[in-house]
Amino acid sequence: MKRIAVFTSGGDAPGMNACIRAVVRTAVYHGIEVYGIMRGYSGMIKGEFVKLDSASVSNTIQKGGTILKSARSQKFMTKEGRQQAFDQLVNHGIDGLVAIGGNGTFTGATLFEQEFGIPTVGAPGTIDNDLYGTDYTIGYDTAVNTALEAIDKIRDTADSHDRCFFVEVMGRDSGYIAIPCAIGGGAEIVMIPETQMSTEAVIDSLKSSWQRSKTSFLVVVAEGEEEGNAHQVAQRVKAAIPELDTRVTIIGHIQRGGSPSAADRMLASQIGIAAVEGLMNGMRNVMAGIVDRKLVYTPFSDTIHKKKLINQSFMRMVEILSV
Ligand code: F6P
Repeated sequence: MKRIAVFTSGGDAPGMNACIRAVVRTAVYHGIEVYGIMRGYSGMIKGEFVKLDSASVSNTIQKGGTILKSARSQKFMTKEGRQQAFDQLVNHGIDGLVAIGGNGTFTGATLFEQEFGIPTVGAPGTIDNDLYGTDYTIGYDTAVNTALEAIDKIRDTADSHDRCFFVEVMGRDSGYIAIPCAIGGGAEIVMIPETQMSTEAVIDSLKSSWQRSKTSFLVVVAEGEEEGNAHQVAQRVKAAIPELDTRVTIIGHIQRGGSPSAADRMLASQIGIAAVEGLMNGMRNVMAGIVDRKLVYTPFSDTIHKKKLINQSFMRMVEILSV
């Protein structure tokens, strides 16, 4: 391995810069040249390569977003796009890639390796924490804390006005962000795609809390909830309990920005080092992750197809703690 490239792809996540920094400095440490590819696969196709050295990543560990920018490339999903990307890698003499992103990123990398043999080691960079092969993804801890800070503020106003707030947090297909927000934010109810909680059950639960003299309520709804989004659920609840004063807050992309937490900086740094050293040791098509505090490399096929299960006891915790 003489020259590698690193890129970020998919939704950005706090800690991506810390990971880029670790990749660059590990490469420099081992005498490997390193390039950054701007805007993920899209920049790879267009040849947006920048040579990086140790100084290029100074003063970046604490920054949110990604200095390499990110994109979701439709063109890379075509054979023609991947051919152009491969030609660019050959022109720049790249022997291996570090891809920081989620499942979409790793799906692209798998196809690319099958067609052109370019080895990729992945780093789990997504706030959703929905990747099999790591207990936590880079950006998750920060996103949860950002959402929780907002929820605490919502709780204040909900309490002052005796209202019921439906708070939607991110998580395209998963409730990983919603669960700690509900437990940590003292929510009455949490709705996530991994469990089937009907709107009727939400209505019954709110009615019974109301009868127990509760006057304000928080319902945390994961973005990917199958019963509908926070607005839709709130509308149905309001129709069933007209006396309930309901409001909806979508926390949204605030969750994706901001300075990474200490936990995210640590995780990103560990994984950045592991990704480069994995490539050096001949690994390909695997994601570096931390499971039970140990570094593991999981094949992309598993990270893509296996589901990281949510501990169902968390749902029970929400129920017990909101009594
Ligand atoms: O994958 C991270 C994520 O933030 C999801 O939680 C969300 O569904 C999606 O990205 C939003 O993507 P975009 O910024 O492209 O709207």
